[in-house]
Amino acid sequence: MIDEPLRIGVLASGRGSNLQAVLDATARPGFPARVALVVSDRERAQALERAARAGVPARFISPKDFGDREAYDAAVSAALDTAGVELVCLAGYMRIVGVAFVRRWSGRLMNIHPSLLPAFPGLHPQRQALDHGVKVAGATVHFVDEGVDTGPIILQASVPVLDADTEESLSERILVEEHRLYPEAIRLFAERRLRVSGRRVILEARG
Ligand code: GAR
Repeated sequence: MIDEPLRIGVLASGRGSNLQAVLDATARPGFPARVALVVSDRERAQALERAARAGVPARFISPKDFGDREAYDAAVSAALDTAGVELVCLAGYMRIVGVAFVRRWSGRLMNIHPSLLPAFPGLHPQRQALDHGVKVAGATVHFVDEGVDTGPIILQASVPVLDADTEESLSERILVEEHRLYPEAIRLFAERRLRVSGRRVILEARG
């Protein structure tokens, strides 16, 4: 029997290039997941247009309509539930998700971050990398836990930092890797090949 593709929800606030990479990958025949819903906290997010162009359901949920973070997160969770989402992917989602949301989706909530975590969590990681003078930077896909960019690491990819780099040029080089990593992490999850053991994510051989 062929399994139904895993239903994923993507939360995005802006440009949505990672969302696009996921939409493109999941549209390929045989990919074991598809995007069931895109949610944005920003009405003008390009991510919403990308979803519409791909024919994927998308919703702007306005933070202004809710009294606090918990109420907002609960509304997002309800939308994801209604869409039958099994895995939530944060893709340039610039709101911090609350503890209740993290617990609700524990083990089924991923994020992509443009640094080699645990280095440079939080805001402007590419700028932090340049400020620290590191010679290697990169991207990380990780499960989300209750900290900021601290959860178990699923996949990482590195890129060189060049002497002439600006924040923009380094960000672009990292982004190429992000677009490869996120669909790959989703595929591994959908194939049930990711097992969390303490802080580590063990990659299991194909069954
Ligand atoms: C990406 O580089 C993503 O890794 C980063 O924001 C960018 C969003 O681009 N996310 C974070 O920094 C989260 N802490 P996109 O909207 O084109 O995917």
